[in-house]
Amino acid sequence: MESAERINKAVEILARGGLVAFPTETVYGLGADATNVNAIASLYALKGRPTSHPSIVHLASTAQLEQWCVDVPDQAILLAAMFWPGPLTMVLKRAPGVSDALTGGQDTIAVRIPSHPVARKLLEAFGRGIAAPSANRFGRISPTSAEDVRAEFANEVMVLDGGRCQVGIESTIIDLSGGSPRILRPGMILEESIKVALSEIESGSGGEHHAPRVPGDLPSHYAPEKPVQLVESSLLQETVAKLSSDGRNPGVLILSGEVVTDAGEARVAMSCSPDVYAFALYKNLRIMDGNAEVDVIVIERPPSNPEWAAIADRLTRAAGDRAMVNSEVGGDGT
Ligand code: TXA
Ligand code: MG
Repeated sequence: MESAERINKAVEILARGGLVAFPTETVYGLGADATNVNAIASLYALKGRPTSHPSIVHLASTAQLEQWCVDVPDQAILLAAMFWPGPLTMVLKRAPGVSDALTGGQDTIAVRIPSHPVARKLLEAFGRGIAAPSANRFGRISPTSAEDVRAEFANEVMVLDGGRCQVGIESTIIDLSGGSPRILRPGMILEESIKVALSEIESGSGGEHHAPRVPGDLPSHYAPEKPVQLVESSLLQETVAKLSSDGRNPGVLILSGEVVTDAGEARVAMSCSPDVYAFALYKNLRIMDGNAEVDVIVIERPPSNPEWAAIADRLTRAAGDRAMVNSEVGGDGT
């Protein structure tokens, strides 16, 4: 765990407009003072992210909400009580004075109270909101350890180390800015759990609700550098054999140890538990991407039940199958 001195140093850096990478329970964030337009500009510049792309503001407590949002519906208060601190982001109507630099010019703002103890210490000590997209360069895999962040940004920013991220994929994003609540990005807080909490949340698209403009649908969307194929369990063996006989070197992510492929060392058994799978996903994609022996990544398609929705979303994006995903929000790589 990071020392009080290091947290204080991070606070000083943020206070003078600098950037600090910090752990959250989902993925590492690259943070800037959310009230400082110049700091936000340097954040976008370092990430290589288009300025039209909105960022999540991380808060220490719900008392800070009024600084960022207006017309907060009861549903948001309820979800905050149930899921914060935790891996849920809410899109709400933005308060006057919230910078366009954060919202991409939209009239909404995304907010989240993370649960990771280092993130909480940092947010409490800083006392203001911290704008933080995932700490990867635009279009790359989100980092789930301090060393992943250092691999992206070497010595360009201070990196607070909080170990491996327990959730491992980005937060669930729900839009509560008007109309019916709508999941914009699936995450490990399931739509089902939110539905139960709200008991009448409307799922999917449609209705009179107009989705906010979110430029998460850019063509250069996140993918590992190597091509990714998402394959049904029943076709896995034959796909790997075919690739190998074509002279390719597949790296294979399977669900459990039961499927036999001859991918040797470049074969990783993930997990039949979605929580464990999510925890391990980005780490293993990075490992496959960095393995010189591998030139194509073959992934066994996970089950299609709701517990796997967030993972299926990220895998489908990694495989570049744009037609298959809810394209409102970039699930990752942003
Ligand atoms: O788990 C997470 O959410 C991580 C950690 C660091 O908190 N953050 C993260 O941030 O994934 P980022 O910027 O990589 O992804 C945030 C997503 C983007 O796709 C962005 O378009 C969407 O949130 N977003 C941000 N503000 C929004 C808004 N006002 N309306 C709709 N979508 C918004
Ligand atoms: Mg991102």
